[in-house]
Amino acid sequence: MIIRKGIEKPDMENLPVHIAAIMDGNGRWASSKGLPRTVGHKAGSEAFRKISEYLNEIGVKYFTVYAFSTENWKRPKEEVSAIMKLLKEYLLEAISDMAEKNIRLCFFGDQTPLSDELKDLIKKTDEISKGCTGLTVNVCLNYGGRDEITRAVQAIVKDGVKPEEITEKLISSYLYSKDTPDPDLIIRPGKEQRISNFLLWQCAYSEFYFTETLWPDMDEEEMNKAIISFQKRKRRFGGI
Ligand code: FPP
Repeated sequence: MIIRKGIEKPDMENLPVHIAAIMDGNGRWASSKGLPRTVGHKAGSEAFRKISEYLNEIGVKYFTVYAFSTENWKRPKEEVSAIMKLLKEYLLEAISDMAEKNIRLCFFGDQTPLSDELKDLIKKTDEISKGCTGLTVNVCLNYGGRDEITRAVQAIVKDGVKPEEITEKLISSYLYSKDTPDPDLIIRPGKEQRISNFLLWQCAYSEFYFTETLWPDMDEEEMNKAIISFQKRKRRFGGI
């Protein structure tokens, strides 16, 4: 356990099962230090790695992160390449120490436009981490909530499903998240307070936590604050 002394700790018996995060603010973090945006993504990827390890240690079961959206291709070519390179580096590292950390890695999103190298690494990581029983990390890569729902509808029609057979459960089973419970808590750092096409179907009853902290500055203490805030909420799921 790496829980540091002096930090307010959440109730470990009542943790959210699934936490999702929009890793926002990397660019601003770097600009505020007079550094190129790509340095911010590097720092963001380090924050992601440390937070995944922390959530795994305390016993959270699922952690879903927005790494690259279907809209992020509009960014300058150099920035897109830098993010893809960071993903590659992360996967190479993950493959080598996956067994030790017991973290399962899954990917949400359309992999078609990714490089063959990245696709191979994703496949390899998926195979190697299949047996891991700790935290499941879902990396959303070329992911968009509307795109996910559109693809699900296309597949349902293609499968010849009759209108009366279409239920919420059936639609959920056609989504990338079919094996993952809905997020209990969605964290968005970086000052903005919007969903940005992230987990649109799955967030129906998620609790939201917004903070001005930029993603590269998110750490164990900031995650604890988010979890403690979640634990103070009364979830009613539309009931009373
Ligand atoms: C949003 O911040 C961040 C992204 C679009 C990229 C996130 C990617 C990483 C953290 C690195 C790779 C990921 C993994 C899982 C290893 P922004 O650039 O929009 O920040 P800004 O709002 O300050 O400009």
